[in-house]
Order: sequence, then structure tokens, then C-alpha cells
Amino acid sequence: MLGISLITLALAATGLAQAPVGYRTVYITSMVDTKYVVQPKSATSGSTVVVQTLTNMPAQQWYLQPGNSTIQLAGSTLCLDAGPKSNWKDMATIYVKTCSATEVAQQWLVMADGRIALPASSNPRECVDLQYMRATPNNPVGLYNCNGLGNIGAADKGLNWPLLNVTS
Ligand SMILES: *[C@@H]1O[C@H](CO)[C@@H](O)[C@H](O)[C@H]1NC(C)=O
Repeated sequence: MLGISLITLALAATGLAQAPVGYRTVYITSMVDTKYVVQPKSATSGSTVVVQTLTNMPAQQWYLQPGNSTIQLAGSTLCLDAGPKSNWKDMATIYVKTCSATEVAQQWLVMADGRIALPASSNPRECVDLQYMRATPNNPVGLYNCNGLGNIGAADKGLNWPLLNVTS
């Protein structure tokens, strides 16, 4: 009984360190090269986002769910953030910032075809993009038209992010 209470307390204390109900814990891999995953350049609010080789570090793990979702860095209070509206354009960089339930720049649409869209953007709707399709260490992750280069949609590998479950 005491043991259970302590566990409950520990879980309550960690708060945002837990995946929200219904969310998965995943690596966001790049279809350009699935050995590369999305991670913040540093785990601080305002940091830009890059790809690095998958090393199974918690700093590469995210909480998200299919459909409308926040994308939260595991064990942190940082969320993927598209920045101000003026930033919602092709080749913009994106960020992690302190999670805010009311921030539309943190509301993403995790699509079954591998794309991750920013529904608040339109004409064009922007999606998470591997800049210049370069799967190399520290290559920036930004935004690009969800229709992709040449209007091929999710077949544009730079816009396609297969999710890999974190296994504990
Ligand atoms: C996402 O949210 C929008 C606005 O609330 C809604 O219209 C849309 O159907 C939702 N999409 C999914 C896939 O749940």
C-alpha cells in the first residue's frame, strides 16, 4: 500500500515528464534516411530543431498521437513550435519552446502518410521538412509546402517522417 502511494506521488511529481493520455513515445525518423531522427539542437526553449543519427537517447524521444497533436520532447516541458505566423513559410526553421496549450504554433496534424502539418497555416499549408533533403548531422528541420516539391505530397521524402516506437 505504502509502495503504491509512493509510486503515485512520484508519477504526480514528474507531471509533464509523462506522455499525455493516448500519446505514443516515438522517434521521428526521416524517410530520406531513417537512421536520422528529429531532435532539438539543445534542450532549451527557443532552440532550433535538427536531425542527428539515432542513438536511442531520451533527447530524441517525443510524445505525440495520430491526428491533431502536440509534439512534446519526452521528459521535458518543451514542444515543437513553428514560431510566429510570419515564420510559417517554405524553408523557415522551427523550434522547441515551452509547451503551451493555447499556442497554435504547437498544434500539429500527424498524418497517416508520414507528413506532419501545421493546420494553422494555409495557402500553402506548411509541413515539417528536412531542409534540402539532407540527412546529415545537424541538418536543420524546417517547414515546406505540404504539397511537396513537384506536387508529390508525402512522396516527397523530405516531408515524410516515419514514427518509430520507443521500446522500454
Ligand atoms: C483536427 O482538428 C480540426 C479542428 O478542430 C478538425 O476539423 C479535424 O477534423 C481534426 N483532424 C483530425 C484528423 O482529427
